[in-house]
Amino acid sequence: MLGCGTVGREVVRLLREEAGELAARAGAPVELAGVAVRRPHKHPELGDLLTTDASALVARPDVDVVVEVIGGIEPARTLLLEALKAGKSVVTANKALLADDGAALAEAADASGADLYYEASVAGAIPLLRPLRESLAGDRITRVAGIVNGTTNFILSAMASSGASYADALEEATRLGYAEADPSADVDGYDAASKAAILASLAFHTRVTAADVHCEGIREVTAADIAAAEGLGCVIKLLAICERMPAEGDTPESVSARVHPAMIPASHPLAAVDGAFNAVFVEAESAGQLMFYGQGAGGAPTASAVLGDLVAVARNRVLGGRGPRESTYAALPVRPMGTVPTRYHVSLDVADRAGVLAAIAGEFARHGVSIAAVRQTGGNGDGAAARLVVVTHAAPESALAATVEVLTGLDAVLGVDSVLRVEDLGRKGVAG
Ligand code: NDP
Ligand code: HSE
Repeated sequence: MLGCGTVGREVVRLLREEAGELAARAGAPVELAGVAVRRPHKHPELGDLLTTDASALVARPDVDVVVEVIGGIEPARTLLLEALKAGKSVVTANKALLADDGAALAEAADASGADLYYEASVAGAIPLLRPLRESLAGDRITRVAGIVNGTTNFILSAMASSGASYADALEEATRLGYAEADPSADVDGYDAASKAAILASLAFHTRVTAADVHCEGIREVTAADIAAAEGLGCVIKLLAICERMPAEGDTPESVSARVHPAMIPASHPLAAVDGAFNAVFVEAESAGQLMFYGQGAGGAPTASAVLGDLVAVARNRVLGGRGPRESTYAALPVRPMGTVPTRYHVSLDVADRAGVLAAIAGEFARHGVSIAAVRQTGGNGDGAAARLVVVTHAAPESALAATVEVLTGLDAVLGVDSVLRVEDLGRKGVAG
């Protein structure tokens, strides 16, 4: 085992407590050969199993399987490539590495015939990757969308339910072991973007990397945004959305993957997903809609997924088979975010006088952005400030961005308070 922190500690506990059961399920004993960490003094309970020489542990002849729960790109990548090249199967929870350089790991696994399993890398305890990779291998997946970061969902839930400050909620999520070593990976959306890349790759049989995923985090979400969402019967969630986009005219079939905060109707099942829980909707042509829900972060839930993979790898080894290989035959192009249509909620402070609404509506029209609803509060018709909220129909991001840029420069616009995406996720809810 490489690493023994929040997740690793729980893997060790379960390996020890459930040794008999695991051996029965795997068909052979699953024994902990050694544990590599940085600071052995922090892990006195591991005694002689400990080492700081991870590379030597990987190379040991009595090691058949390497479980990596260090995280980050290096030294994890080098260590896992060493293991795979030596024909040792790998179980990893490392979404950052998989989304950055999963291809190198998959190629090394294929070359040596080793297994590469990574269920824990997306949505903690929730069995999600195996259903995508195996159960739905006979179907055509059209969309995978959901909440895949526990830390940001915990923060947004706390801000909405108890009015907690962003900073206090982040501190609590870190204390509970949900946050990444550097929590900016959570709050800036990179963790969810890595997971979106993994989900899109599996769902669409196409290699999608973190760099292909449009990524916005939750730092800019304010208490005012949350209140505005409530006013519309919505909540704000950080969503990861991976879609298969049909061919249109000269544009070939493509995929898109994006992570951003969005308003969703309070009646949508995802709106009820609170705290560190994750939930993912999968839509497939024959299966229809499927929802996966459960604990998306934390030591024990994530260790459950690691152990599941470990048993699968051990079974393959005992029976002489292999798990599924990477499937990227479709090789669909990834659509740039600027061309992906989404709906928006734009909140503006304006001088309330004759012609202002027409001028603002005109700018939306000039950029080809169709308005679904407008609501004004405050103002007196004599130029005093009023709050104007515009909800649009689906429009490309580039068109909306150009509209907002022009609006910001209008005399009558005192300020653009927030621009938030609106996602109905297949249901009617926000302004039609
Ligand atoms: P932690 O930071 O809690 O633990 C990391 C472990 O790696 C520590 O034991 C640390 O050693 C060890 N380590 C760090 N650098 C090295 C190195 N160079 N050589 C050997 N050991 C090293 O991380 P988590 O357990 O939270 O996360 C592990 C992985 O699981 C990450 O990829 C993360 O993204 C993923 N994950 C985490 C979830 C969670 O809820 N926490 C959920 C799903 C996935 P030492 O103890 O000596 O400092
Ligand atoms: N930091 C991650 C989260 C851990 O908050 O969801 C689970 O991958």
